[in-house]
Amino acid sequence: MLMWGFLGLGRLKRARLAQETATSIAQKATAAQSSHSYRRWFGASIARMAPVRDPNTLSNYDAWRTKHTTANFKVDFDAKSLRGSIVLELESQTDKASNEIILDSSYVDVSSIKLNSAPSKWEIKDRTGPNGSPVHISVPSGASKGEIVKLEIDLATTEKCTALQWLTPAQTSNKKAPFMFSQCQAIHARSIFPCQDTPDVKSTYNFNIQSPHVVVASGVPLLDAPEEAGQEKVYRFQQKVPIPSYLFALASGDIASAPIGKRSSVATGPNELKASQWELQDDMDKFMDAAEKIVFPYQWGEYNVLILPPSFPYGGMENPIFTFATPTIISGDRQNIDVIAHELAHSWSGNLVTSCSWEHFWLNEGWTMYLERRILASIHKNDAYFDFSAIIGWKHLEEAINEYGEDHEYTKLCISHKGIDPDDAFSTVPYEKGFHFIYYLDRLVGRENFDNFVPHYFSKWANKSLDSYEFKDTFLEFFGAPEYSSLKSKLSEIDWEGRFFNPGLPPKPEFDTSLVDVCFQLADKWKQKDFSASPSDISSWTGNQVLVFLNVVQNFEVPLTPEQSQKLGRAYGLTETKNVELKSAYYQIAMKAKDTSSYAGVAELLGEVGRMKFVRTLFRSLNTVDRDLAVKTFKKNRDFYHPICRGLVEKDLGLVALESA
Ligand code: BES
Ligand code: ZN
Repeated sequence: MLMWGFLGLGRLKRARLAQETATSIAQKATAAQSSHSYRRWFGASIARMAPVRDPNTLSNYDAWRTKHTTANFKVDFDAKSLRGSIVLELESQTDKASNEIILDSSYVDVSSIKLNSAPSKWEIKDRTGPNGSPVHISVPSGASKGEIVKLEIDLATTEKCTALQWLTPAQTSNKKAPFMFSQCQAIHARSIFPCQDTPDVKSTYNFNIQSPHVVVASGVPLLDAPEEAGQEKVYRFQQKVPIPSYLFALASGDIASAPIGKRSSVATGPNELKASQWELQDDMDKFMDAAEKIVFPYQWGEYNVLILPPSFPYGGMENPIFTFATPTIISGDRQNIDVIAHELAHSWSGNLVTSCSWEHFWLNEGWTMYLERRILASIHKNDAYFDFSAIIGWKHLEEAINEYGEDHEYTKLCISHKGIDPDDAFSTVPYEKGFHFIYYLDRLVGRENFDNFVPHYFSKWANKSLDSYEFKDTFLEFFGAPEYSSLKSKLSEIDWEGRFFNPGLPPKPEFDTSLVDVCFQLADKWKQKDFSASPSDISSWTGNQVLVFLNVVQNFEVPLTPEQSQKLGRAYGLTETKNVELKSAYYQIAMKAKDTSSYAGVAELLGEVGRMKFVRTLFRSLNTVDRDLAVKTFKKNRDFYHPICRGLVEKDLGLVALESA
C-alpha cells in the first residue's frame, strides 16, 4: 500500500491544519454568499430573472442551500455501480417556509429519502431536457430561515450514469484490478447522487467509501490507513473548504503513489508510477511557488495528481486535493505539463472563486489560462513565454470562431445556457476569449497595478460564486480607489457589455512574437515543394514550438501532397513520437493531405487515447476523409471511451439525433 504508507502522519496533520485555516475564510464567506443579489437583468443574450441565476439546475436553491454533504458509498465493481446513501444538510433561506426541496438528478436509482430521519414524501419527475429529472421532496412543516434539515437519500448509480467510467481489469495496464473514476464537471454530479448541481452552491463534504481497491477523492484522507471491512476497506476523506458539486470526485483501482513535491504526490497504476513521478517532480514545487506569489498561499493543504487510464476524457480536471489528469501528459519529455500548471491554478480560479453558472464559465477558465501563463512565464523567467502561449491560444480562438461562424452564440464570452447542455457549448472560446479579456484589463491598468488586484479579487470572492457583473463591479470598485485616480479615463473606455456579449473575435492585441517567428519561418519553407527537411530543423525546439509549426502547416491554403506529408512525418519523427499532442497534430496534416497511408495510424491512435481534445478532432477529420473507417473505429472503441466522450462523438459523427435525450 504505497499510497497510504507515503501519506505519513506529519503530512496528514499539515494538510488538515491548512484546511482549518481555509475553513475560517469559508465561515466569513458564508454570510456574504447569500446576501449578494442574483435577481438581475442580464445583457440581451443571457437575459434572465430569478428564481435562480443558473439555468442548468432544476433545484430551488433560492429557498434551500446545501451546507454539508456526506457520501457513504460502496464501490461495487461487479455491478458497476456506487451504492449507499448521500446525506444533504440544507439550510432554509427564506422566512416564508418553503414546503418543498427540489434537487437535480439524472438516471440515479433512488430507493428511499428520509427527512430528518423520518420517511418522506418524494417524487422523481420526468426528464424534459438536458438538466435531467428533478427530485421533489416534501417538507410539510417547512423550516424557518437558517434552520437546517437533513435528507438521507438511499441510492445506486445506474448503467446510464454519465459521470462514471468503469474499466474491467483487462482494460487497465497491469490487468490486475478493475478501475473506476468520476468526472462531474459540468452537470454530471447529478447522475451520481441527487444534489443542488450548480456551481452557485458550495458545500463541505465527508466521504466514506468502501472498496476492495485504493480510493482517491476530492478530500483530505481522514485516516492514516483505511479501516478493514471484511474483504474490503473503508476510506474516509473530508473536504472542509466548501466546494460546488462539480468538484466531487472519486477514483478507485490498483493505485500506487510517490512524492513529487513538498505537499504533492502523484498517484497512478504501479507500472506508470516511475515515469509519472519523473515527469512531474522537477516542476511541481516551482509551479506552486510561482502561483502562491501571484495570488496568495494555497488553501487546500495537499495538491496531488492522479494520472488516469487513457480513456480519461480531459487533459486535466481540477478536483481539489487530487487533480485528475490524462496519461498523455506523461510523454517522457516534460513537454506537456502545462496542464498541471493549469489545474493547479484552478485552486484559486474556479475552486476557491467560482463562476455562478456555466454562462460565466469564462471566469473559471479565462482566469485560469491567465494564471497558467503567468506561472509558466515566471518559472521560465521569460515574458516571451507568456506571449508565446497566448499566441497559440489566439490561434485556437480564431479556429474555434471560424468553425462556429462569427455570429454564433457560443463565440460570446457569456454564453446563454437556457435549454443547453454545457457539454455541447464547451469550446476553447471561454478559455481564450476569457484570457484575452483578463489580459486586456492587465495591460490597461498596468502590470504593477493589476498585480495588486489579483489577490484582492481572489480573497474577496474566496468560497463564493460570482457572475460577470460582480466581476466588473469588483474591478471598478478596486480601481476606483483614490490611489488609482489617474486610471479613471482608461477605465471608462472599457466596453463591458461588448466584451461580455459581442460574438466573434475580440480586438487583437500586439504580441511578442520572438518564440513563434522561427516556427512560421520553418512553415514557410514547407511551402516549397523541394524543401529538404532535417531533424535538426526542430531539434532545439520546445514541444509547443513544434505544435505551432504543425498548426501553421495544417492551415496552409494549399495542403501538402501525400508525399510531402510523409516526408514531414519521417523527418521529425512524428509517427513514432510518444507525444500525443504532436502525433495528433501530424495526423491532422496527413488527413488534410489525403495521405491514405496514414489513416490506419489515426484509427490506431483513436483506440489508444480517450482525451476528447484529440478524439473529437481526429474523428471529425477522419469522418471527412473516410467516413466508413471513422464509424467502424468508433464502434470498435465505443466501450473504451468515457460516457461523456462517447455521447459527444456520437453527436459529432451524426450517429444520434442532436437533442440531448
Ligand atoms: N475544468 C477543465 C476541464 C473541464 C471543463 C471539464 C469543462 C468538464 C467541463 C480543466 O481545467 C481544463 O481546462 N482542462 C484542459 C487543460 C488545458 C486547458 C491545459 C483540458 O482538458 O484540455
Ligand atoms: Zn481549466
